[in-house]
Amino acid sequence: MTGDKPVPPSPVTLRTSETGEAVQGNLWHELGGRPTFEKLVRKFYEGVANDEVLRPMYPEADLEGAIQRLTGFLEQYWGGPTTYSQERGHPRLRMRHQPFKVNPDARDRWMRHMRAAVDSLELAPLNDALLWGYLERAAHAMVNTFDE
Ligand code: HEM
Repeated sequence: MTGDKPVPPSPVTLRTSETGEAVQGNLWHELGGRPTFEKLVRKFYEGVANDEVLRPMYPEADLEGAIQRLTGFLEQYWGGPTTYSQERGHPRLRMRHQPFKVNPDARDRWMRHMRAAVDSLELAPLNDALLWGYLERAAHAMVNTFDE
């Protein structure tokens, strides 16, 4: 006997994935997880590598470290693994960008390379708008000087 109390309904899982896990509906998952985010960031850094203003901001000869950091951050932001914060701590992006001269020109260059990278993913229009809307706002928020 379990007494007179009504038994609470069990949680309902509306959909399950092929492996039986609950489908989270987060954008990281929906866009294809790690491979999609890595493709995005690698494409973005191809643009940076050829940009006369942005490239000198990255002193390392090899952009691989920067690729891994940005990929990890974006994966985490969109609901993927939290490896970025385990390795780097709280993002504090405005603070981390203080050493760099992020003026409107740098921002516009960053956004141009990122736009090309987002285009390369050929996302469904709504997903494209979600991803791009965030990246655009974040880029505007990162401006820390109006010096030429
Ligand atoms: C607006 C123009 C921007 C410029 C010129 C710029 C430039 C840079 C530079 C030079 C670095 C150092 C390289 C590195 O350590 O990885 C960096 C790091 C980083 N940036 Fe940006 N950035 C911009 C915007 C953004 C935006 C909009 C985001 C996020 C959506 C972002 C996310 C990051 C992340 C996650 C790191 C690595 C931070 C760390 O863990 O050290 N950046 N950025």
